[in-house]
Amino acid sequence: MGMIETIRSVVRFAPVERDRTARRLARVANVDDLRILARRRLPGGVFDYIDGAAEDELTAGRNEDGYRRLELRPRVLRDVSALDPSTTLFGRTLPVPLVLAPTGFTRIADPDGELAVARAAARAGLPYGLSTLSTRSIEEVAAVSDGDKWFQVYVWRDRGLVAEMLERAQAAGYSTIVITVDTAVLGRRERDLRRGFSLPPKIGLGTLIDGALHPGWTWDFVRSEPISFANVVGKSVGDGGDPVTLSDYINSQFDPSLSWADVNWFRERWPGNVVLKGIQTVDDALLAAEHGVDAVALSNHGGRQLDGAPPPIELVGPVAQAVGDAMAVLCDGGVRRGSDVVKAVALGATACMIGRPYLYGLGAAGERGVDWVLEFLADGVRQTMALTGCVSIGDLDRGLVRWRGPAAP
Ligand code: GLV
Repeated sequence: MGMIETIRSVVRFAPVERDRTARRLARVANVDDLRILARRRLPGGVFDYIDGAAEDELTAGRNEDGYRRLELRPRVLRDVSALDPSTTLFGRTLPVPLVLAPTGFTRIADPDGELAVARAAARAGLPYGLSTLSTRSIEEVAAVSDGDKWFQVYVWRDRGLVAEMLERAQAAGYSTIVITVDTAVLGRRERDLRRGFSLPPKIGLGTLIDGALHPGWTWDFVRSEPISFANVVGKSVGDGGDPVTLSDYINSQFDPSLSWADVNWFRERWPGNVVLKGIQTVDDALLAAEHGVDAVALSNHGGRQLDGAPPPIELVGPVAQAVGDAMAVLCDGGVRRGSDVVKAVALGATACMIGRPYLYGLGAAGERGVDWVLEFLADGVRQTMALTGCVSIGDLDRGLVRWRGPAAP
């Protein structure tokens, strides 16, 4: 056979994909690929706000490394033909042990923002946590999603505002509140300081140049309605009409005197589930159990608050052991693959939460990017279970994993 025939016999041109989002996603294989795409599409300040963390970002890195330090111990020849990764949380079935964590100001990544994420979560059958600092309101999100909705609570100095938000969330059918307890003051996020990043992002000279380099985002941003702090529009606390830095906003508006006594205040006002997010020690997990909450979320806010805080995956085993069946144990920070979810559940977590992964998806490819991440993680859970000989969530136990190097304390 001549060279031309040989070449002709192996060359196959794929049909040209006309949909630009599909073309972009076709070349994505994992969350890190989405992160790189998001970095290309978003202005630097926006990407750094999402991707960045506190101080030297040690904790943010260790959150991911914690999962890498865990090794799986696969069992074979176990007939995994009928595999079921579903689990139960707060009496509801989740198709996989995954929850979408609240993230602030989601419309900076994509004009549909929280609506896109809530719709994708509902399609995947997973709970979505809406942030107090969202850019679509409690009611707007409820209008587009009949999925399980959680409301994340930052505690304003104005407690009347908090009580009012709880009433609104209840009226709109939210099942669960997530009280963030790791933000007495805002962490020092040095990427944001360097860039003078504000919310909403300001259009200054730097942003104009950056915008010219990111025309897709800039076009969406100027064409869509202005970004506001949708839950507090028109209130005295500031609703994003004037750009502010997050540290000025949080440090002036949120209540640093929040304490365990306040947990009872929430219990009395909220008939649904209560989650404390930002628990970082066994002692505090035990206190949370004493205060009768329904779950703790082991979290260091994705490394965005206290740099030097421990990776949540290292706390899962000790906390699960200490609290037993008293409440559900969630964890977030560093989850990038389905295998990470399997590892956390094996150590005793009920489910993992993700934040940055879906924001990278949203920044890279809008709502379909969020769908992509959720499918990728669910597929990863199923594949890991198949390759470790586990057919149900009940099969994921401590024997499935071991720490490389010294075990987590
Ligand atoms: C908001 O909660 C943030 O972490 O930026």
